[in-house]
Amino acid sequence: MADARDTELNTPRLLLRAPTDDDVGFVLDTYSRSEVVRYIGTGETQTTHEQAYQRIERYRSQFGPGTGVWLVENHDGAPLGFALMKPIPFSEGVVAQQEDLEIGWHLHPEAWGSGFATEAAQALIDHARAVGHKRLVAVTHPDNTGSQAVARRLGMTHEGRTERYYNTSCELFTLDLYG
Ligand SMILES: CC(C)(COP(=O)(O)OP(=O)(O)OC[C@H]1O[C@@H](n2cnc3c(N)ncnc32)[C@H](O)[C@@H]1OP(=O)(O)O)[C@@H](O)C(=O)NCCC(=O)NCCS
Repeated sequence: MADARDTELNTPRLLLRAPTDDDVGFVLDTYSRSEVVRYIGTGETQTTHEQAYQRIERYRSQFGPGTGVWLVENHDGAPLGFALMKPIPFSEGVVAQQEDLEIGWHLHPEAWGSGFATEAAQALIDHARAVGHKRLVAVTHPDNTGSQAVARRLGMTHEGRTERYYNTSCELFTLDLYG
């Protein structure tokens, strides 16, 4: 399998690449916005350069064989957001035979409403298939209808509410990749 650090993914309108420290301004501008973080993690904005650098480092550390957090930009090099594919943390007490692989999407608000999240995530799905992954999951906050619409546009199956991941209650979507 290819190492995702070296894996740039192209779509008709987008380039997905590993984030670098040069992206710190964009990271800060994105994750300091309440409408972006509202349904992510603790829901708290991040407002310091140090937090942004730490996020970039974390995102880069999540690159592995066929996994990572990619920065999504247009073909003029303007950053639009992030698309992720990585092992998802199980909730405490969940016993699992194997890891589940999560896909996700975070766009800067100026990039909403153009189909970029769906296009970037579709590139990750194609990449997942190419490297031999069998199944993907996506989870959203129950109120995050915008994100649920992305999962549906990708052809993912809505499995209902689950407490299996992130020690919280989420809407679960799955996609089988074989066949
Ligand atoms: C969730 C999120 C990525 C959804 O973004 P989005 O722009 O609505 O989703 P897409 O990129 O798939 O775009 C779809 C929209 O673009 C429109 N669109 C415009 N031009 C388009 C084109 N050429 N192709 C496809 N869609 C297009 C679609 O009609 C649709 O709009 P609608 O919802 O009004 O019908 C975005 O709201 C976000 O980043 N939120 C903050 C972070 C977050 O919560 N992430 C999810 C955590 S689970």
